[in-house]
This record gives sequence, C-alpha cells and structure tokens, in this order.
Amino acid sequence: MRSQPLTLMEHINACQRSFPEATGSFSLLMESLALASKIISREVNKAGLGKLLGLAGRRNIQGEQVARLDDFANDTLVHSLTRGGTCCALASEELAVPIRLPGAEGAGRYAVVFDPLDGSSNIDVAVSVGTIFGVYRRRSPEGGLGDASDLLQSPGKLVAAGYALYGSSTVFVYSAGQGTHGFTLDSGLGEFLLSHPSIQIPERGGILSINWANRGRWDEKTRRAVQAYEDAEETGPCSARYVGSMVADAHRTLLCGGLFAYPGDTKNSSGKLRLLYEAGPMAFLFEQAGGVATDGSKRILDKTPDALHDRTPLVLGAAGDVAVFAEALAK
Ligand code: AHG
Ligand code: MN
Ligand code: MN
Repeated sequence: MRSQPLTLMEHINACQRSFPEATGSFSLLMESLALASKIISREVNKAGLGKLLGLAGRRNIQGEQVARLDDFANDTLVHSLTRGGTCCALASEELAVPIRLPGAEGAGRYAVVFDPLDGSSNIDVAVSVGTIFGVYRRRSPEGGLGDASDLLQSPGKLVAAGYALYGSSTVFVYSAGQGTHGFTLDSGLGEFLLSHPSIQIPERGGILSINWANRGRWDEKTRRAVQAYEDAEETGPCSARYVGSMVADAHRTLLCGGLFAYPGDTKNSSGKLRLLYEAGPMAFLFEQAGGVATDGSKRILDKTPDALHDRTPLVLGAAGDVAVFAEALAK
C-alpha cells in the first residue's frame, strides 16, 4: 500500500511524544494556528470575489495603511488562539497593545506573537502573502492574566515559530526546535501534508533578495556589502529576486538558498522589519534549517526587544552567503 504523508498534527504529536511531561497544550496551540491559517488561506484565495480587497481606512500603530485582509487575518488568529485556551497573551503587528488573556491553573501556558498578514501591499495584485508567528513559554505566574513579560522575550527563547505562505499553493512551515519542516495544504482534504521534511538551506544560492530601490538611502558600508555579495565568486553568478512579501522571499531563500536582506537606511536606521513578529520567528526557522540570521553584527536570536513593535535590520541565508555580506559590512 502506498504510504500517505504525515499530516501536520500527526507530525506535531509524534514530536511531542519525545517529551513525556507534555500535556497536549502545545499540540492544541499549533492546531489553533493551523486552523487560522486555513481560514485565512481560503479568504486570500477568493479575496477578489468578496469585499476583502482594498484598505480598511485606517493606519496601524506603525503608521502603515491597514488592508481589509490584515484585519480579517488578525481577527481570525485572535479568535482561534483565544478559543483554544492555551495562551496567556497575544501580540500582533496590527494591534497597538497586547491582548492579555485570563487562564485557569494549567491553562494559558504560552504567549504568541504574530504578523497576521505579511506582504499586505501585494494582496490586491494576487501576489503571495503569508502569516508569521512565534510561540513563547509564559513567564508571568500561571492562573492570572498574561502580561508584557510573556511577550517581550528574546527570539532565542522561542519554543516554536512558523509561517503559512499563501502562494501558488499554501504551505505551512514550522519548527519546535527539532528541525524545520514544511507542509502543503491539500485543499480537498483540508489538511496540511508533510511535503518538505527536515529542510536544510542550500549553501551558496547566489540569489540576492533586497529592495534595490532603497540603495540611495543605504550607508556606504551597506552598499559595499551588497556589491561584495553580487561579486563574490564563492556564491556563484548572482540573480535578483524580490517579491516584497518577506515570507515569500524568505521561503524561497530557505528552499533555494541565497541571501535575503532588509538593512537599515536613512529613513529607518533599523530597517522595516519587526524583531518580534518577522525577524525573530524567521531567524529561529533559518537556524533550525542550518542557516544564519543576523542584523549585520549581532545574531537575531541574541537580541531582546525593548518594545513590542521594535524593528531590526535583517540578513538571512546560508552561513556562506551571510558571511560574504557581513564581512564586507564589518570592513
Ligand atoms: P507587512 O505587510 O506585514 O507590513 O510587511 C511588509 C514587509 C515585508 O513583508 C517585506 O519584506 C517588506 O515589507 C517590503 O518592504 P519594501 O516595500 O520597503 O521593500
Ligand atoms: Mn510583515
Ligand atoms: Mn503584516
């Protein structure tokens, strides 16, 4: 008989069996995230048919225009994670303040940070977008409301991270610290099926993913680092790919290799991407796949946010690719 690929939940439950003290709470939390991803995927795929294209008519805490699908994705995740009873606190790129949740003893063990819809400027033109999340263990005392201490943790303390990419297919990639694994949504079954077990980022991809139009705002060192990567013999002939949805650019980098970078510039010295919702979870996934994530001088997983919406410069890729860029940056 032909063997069927594992479902996402079978995979998570199998991994949890190596922790005899596991209570099932983590599996339930991942189930909430997977369900929210399926609901968002369904809406993204038919956004042009309904009322979900376009702007919501307000700006978020970071002054960015909010799209209707940003709001839909945010509400879906908040609802799914709240209902599951596994979380004590939630922080979203789209919410100015965190959501603190009540929990009985033994419940609400986790705090979740998320970018509900990454790449929202691409929604209206049917280009790939995604959801990014990170999961922390709670730090506040069990039994009460979660608080900021549960959320303002270094990405080095993540117990799990992942993303759903709503592209030509919908893919769910996660790591709980035992490698990075990818699943593809079988829409007939409504299940994520294991399609990319134990992802290892290829060395020397030779693909550069950066917003080149920002070069006028980069400092001299960043310009030199980009040039060094383009010229490096070790990374081979260099090609450019930039979707403008970090989750899609990062997914390609994870599978095909190369370098994704969003450096600081004169508009924003820390770049555009958020440490908690975007850079941190992606750094966790890349390191679990044998890759590297740095802000140019410091490992992303060694950074700690001072505030929920802190930004960080980000360079993601295989060790060899990142080394070429970071060494030129340090000169
Ligand atoms: P978001 O839609 O969640 O605000 O994130 C958009 C981010 C990220 O996905 C992407 O890498 C970057 O913005 C693109 O920015 P530029 O248009 O400045 O290149
Ligand atoms: Mn984003
Ligand atoms: Mn977003």
